[in-house]
This record gives sequence, C-alpha cells and structure tokens, in this order.
Amino acid sequence: MCGIIGIVGDAPVADRLVDGLKRMEYRGYDSSGICTIVDGQLVRRRAEGKLANLVEVLKHDPADGLIGIAHTRWATHGAPTSSNAHPHATEEVALVHNGIIENFRPLREQMAGEGRNFESQTDTEVVVHLVSREVEKGRSPQEAVREVLPQLRGAFALAIAFKSHPDILIGARLGSPLVVGYGEGEMFLGSDALALAPLTQKIAYLEEGDWVVLTKSGATIYDAENNEVTREVQASGATAAAIEKGNYRHYMQKEIYEQPTVVAQTLGSYLRREDNSVALPQFDFDLTAIKRITIVACGTSYYAAMVAKYWFEQFARVPVDLDFASEFRYRDPVLEDGGLALFISQSGETADTLAALRHCKENGQIIGVVVNVPTSSMAREADLLLPTHAGPEIGVASTKAFTCQLAVLAALAAHMAVKKGLMSREEEQEVVKHLLEAPAALNAALDHDDDIAAMAHLIAPARDVLYLGRGQDYPLAMEGALKLKEISYIHAEGYASGEMKHGPIALIDEAVPVIVLAPSGPLFEKTVSNMEEVRARGGQVVLISDAEGLALAGEGCIATIEMPNVHPLIAPLVYSVPVQLLAYHTACVKGTDVDQPRNLAKSVTVE
Ligand code: M6R
Repeated sequence: MCGIIGIVGDAPVADRLVDGLKRMEYRGYDSSGICTIVDGQLVRRRAEGKLANLVEVLKHDPADGLIGIAHTRWATHGAPTSSNAHPHATEEVALVHNGIIENFRPLREQMAGEGRNFESQTDTEVVVHLVSREVEKGRSPQEAVREVLPQLRGAFALAIAFKSHPDILIGARLGSPLVVGYGEGEMFLGSDALALAPLTQKIAYLEEGDWVVLTKSGATIYDAENNEVTREVQASGATAAAIEKGNYRHYMQKEIYEQPTVVAQTLGSYLRREDNSVALPQFDFDLTAIKRITIVACGTSYYAAMVAKYWFEQFARVPVDLDFASEFRYRDPVLEDGGLALFISQSGETADTLAALRHCKENGQIIGVVVNVPTSSMAREADLLLPTHAGPEIGVASTKAFTCQLAVLAALAAHMAVKKGLMSREEEQEVVKHLLEAPAALNAALDHDDDIAAMAHLIAPARDVLYLGRGQDYPLAMEGALKLKEISYIHAEGYASGEMKHGPIALIDEAVPVIVLAPSGPLFEKTVSNMEEVRARGGQVVLISDAEGLALAGEGCIATIEMPNVHPLIAPLVYSVPVQLLAYHTACVKGTDVDQPRNLAKSVTVE
C-alpha cells in the first residue's frame, strides 16, 4: 500500500526521504517519487518500478531541498507509470496521497471545466488542484487545506508542500494512518512508525479527521472541526533493527523461523504457567452473555477466523458467523444487540475490515480485535483488545502473524468455555498444557525445512496445485493455496477434502499435484479415503502427516513430509509451517520476488 514520508529539515532531505521509502517497500508499491523545494521552486522526481529507478533519476537530477515529501505508490486509479506516480503538483502545490478519493470524478470534471489541466489518471491529482485553487486565490496553506478537506470523500492520508511557504508541510488523515515524528529542530510525517524509525523515536498518531501543520520546531494539530488539539507524543518502539533481515535470505523466511519465539511470547501473555490457566485482559462486559460471535477478516486473517470457528463452537458452544470483510457490510447482516463482533488483522488498518468494525460498532456490537499492530486504528477502536506479539511482519505473505492469531483465538475460546462453565479446571489445564507445547512443536516442524526445499522442485513446474484438508485443517488448505498463489504465482485452490468428489475431482490428472494435510486423529481416515479417490484417478499426492499417518498412508505418494505428533488443538499452528515453507521454497525455485510479490500490498487500506 502507498507509503508517505515528509521532512521539514535542517539539512538536505532527499537521501533521508529515499531511505524512508526503502523502509516502507514492504508495504508493496509499483512507482515512487519525491518533491523538495529548491530556490523557491518545487523540484519533483518520479520513476516507475523499484526504488532503484528513482535513485538513478536523483543521481542525474538531484533535488537538494531542506523540506520535502516522498511516496511509494500502489496503483489504484491509473497504471503504474511515472506520470501517475506521486507527488502530483501544480505550479504552487505538491502533494502525496495514500487512499482513494471516491468523489474524484465530479471534482475533476468541475475543475477541468475551469480550464485546469490534468496530467494523470489518478484520483489524487484532483486534491492538488483543489488546494492549489485556494492558494491561487490568496489563501494561506492552512486556509486552503481547511477549505478542501471537507470536500473529499473516501480515505486519505496526505502530505502537502507549498512553493511559497518553504518552511511548512501540512498532513491530513481520514481512513489511512499518518504519524507525526518529533526530531531535534526537524519534524517528520510518515505512514507508520517504521518509516520514521531511525529519524526519531518520538511520535504522535493523528486521529480520524485530524490535520497538522509542521514547521521545523513543532506541530500544530487540528481535529475534523478545526479545533486545535493535542495528541499524545509517545515512544515509537519501532527500531530499524526490527526490520532487518539478519542472516536470512528473505523476510518471509526469517518470519517463518521466528514463529516458535513469537508464538511463545503471545501465549505467554494469555496463559499462566504457574497454574496452567487462561488469563485474558480485563474488560467490562460479561463473556457468558454472548449468544453469537461474528468474525470478520480478510485473507490469511480470515483463515485464522475459520479455524477459530471450530474452537468457539466446540469449546464454548457459541455459534459463529464468519465473513470476508469486503462482503460483510454489503449483505446487511443480522446483528443482535450485545453480540460480540471479532475482527482479526495483522495490520489493524485493512480498509474493508475497519469499515466492517465501524459498521458493527454502530449496530451495538461489542468490538473484539485480534491485531498485531497495537497502535493501529482497529486496536484503538476495540472494546476488547487482544494483541498478537508477532513483532513487525515485513514479508507481504503473512506467516508469523497467522500462527500468533491462532494462539490468541485458542486462548479466547478456552477462556469463554471456562467462564460459561463448559470447561472444567482439569480440561482447562489440559488445553493450556497442549498450547504450551506449540513452540517446541513448531521448532520440530522447522527441522523438516530441507525436505520441503527439495520437494519444492516437484511443485515449481506445476500450473495448478490443489490443497486438501478436513475439519480445522480445511482452512489450512486454503491458507496453503493462498501462500502459493501469492508468492509463486502458481494457481492453487484449497478444498475441504470431502467436497472434492462434488466437482473439483474432475481436475485431477498427473499434472496437478495434490497436497493433503492429514494429521493422525479423528478425521485422518476420512481424509485418507478422499486422498485415495484422488490417487485412483492418477492424482500425484504429497502427504503431510505425522509418523503414524505416513506409516499408514504414505506409500505411493510422490512425496511425504513428516510433522511431529501433536494434539489436534495445536495441529493448525504446526501444519502452518510446511505450507508456508512449501510456498516459500517453490517461489525461490521460480525466482519470484518473495517479499514483494507483484501486484500485492502488505496492508490494503483501500476498499
Ligand atoms: O493486515 P490484515 O491481516 O488485515 O491483512 C489481511 C490480508 O490482506 C492479508 O492476510 C493478505 O491476504 C496476506 N498477503 C496473506 O498472506
């Protein structure tokens, strides 16, 4: 998703702006640009593709100002060309934008009618013309922005520079995050704390509707009603080290390997080892009164929700409705007063999920949020905040956030069951004991990395791959397929193994590898029967199971991957590892851009 950085500096800013953009590369982008003010002129440089192209442009045509804004663009309106890249500018004003201006068409028509010349296909350019028009009328930058913001519909974070006011930047946010950084005689704007990590540790998060005027010596923040407000300045906690790859080849690989540690950290804040009990944060509503849970999420977080549905229903006997956030709001869901609506998100900024959360809030739901970024919009709007402690996740393909989400959700389901009197003290102790076994089991799963790397050579030439699982392994089949699609660009589908015979079995032939996830346990035999149906039709099966499962059903498979023998409760966490590693190594064999796959953004802040 687009990344913004702005500096009102004491020294030339171009290099630091570009470094800031580098720290935001993980968000996903397809062009970039920078604008500084040099000798009273806006100096703009832009390039298609990777940041290296912008660096090359700047080598030949520097932009040596002391104040500037910069942007990585993830295309929404208009192709990823240099003329659509931000900053967009008029003679007077330059601006970068994250989000979508939904009413840009009528505004653009109106201004084109006034003779204004548009150079791009973007929704953003309309904003620069609106602000410029006010400035050209003689208004101050503050007056111009105050006039324009109420005219914009949609979502935006903006950073704006003014040719005739080379000492200020203005930022604004509605729906897309923006952070103010406080330096020594310098001030900063950024899309997130990581962007500003080496520049300052003192940051303030703008709230919805806020806008801010930055000078070298400070920031004046206004709310949506233009009242001057203060926003807490806090220690960012983001360190440049947290976003380094260390000895790993890719962030995704590093993050897969971090799972034993971060799952242990996450469990540590929800389980009490002293007495093997579940301990949730304090909240002021009665969990036992919850009659229904609505879970809403996107992508990988949605698959964590699918697994959690099994747990909430099995342990706490609460019915669970589940929806993709992008579908939820538009189907007019029935929400009874006092229901629990649970939102799962790594970033806490996914626009669809955030919009669904606000819809639920307006409709009397208690808002629970399982989120990895504790300062995110979702975290701030939660009644029940359940953080995952995965640390910054940089790889676009989500890995460690997923297993940490599962850890939190299992603890929440067990806690509800205890509170409702459906789980005895002994059963609670058993559940906690099994959850605490997860980090060691994750390590044991990682021990099979080399086998999986070797197996990836069998998968890389395929055009289509099927993943099969049953029960709580069915969502994992979907997650495995998503991981493979995202980073290796191989078409893959995840199916409930029993559903195969109702259609997809027609796809089976020697060219379509079928990955079967089947830990031994109550559903093992049924899954294996479905696997045999595939094999009987010439299907090439890769079986992922434990030693017992492989001994029973491994013969005749093109490959097998052995997992440790684990309790079914933690199987979804442990079996995440082979599907993540398989996608990772397949992508490496194919030579794709593992951490920044084409077309994808880390956090999708547009609907
Ligand atoms: O930040 P979120 O968890 O809300 O993001 C949701 C999806 O965009 C995300 O899981 C996406 O599907 C990942 N790229 C999956 O690897």
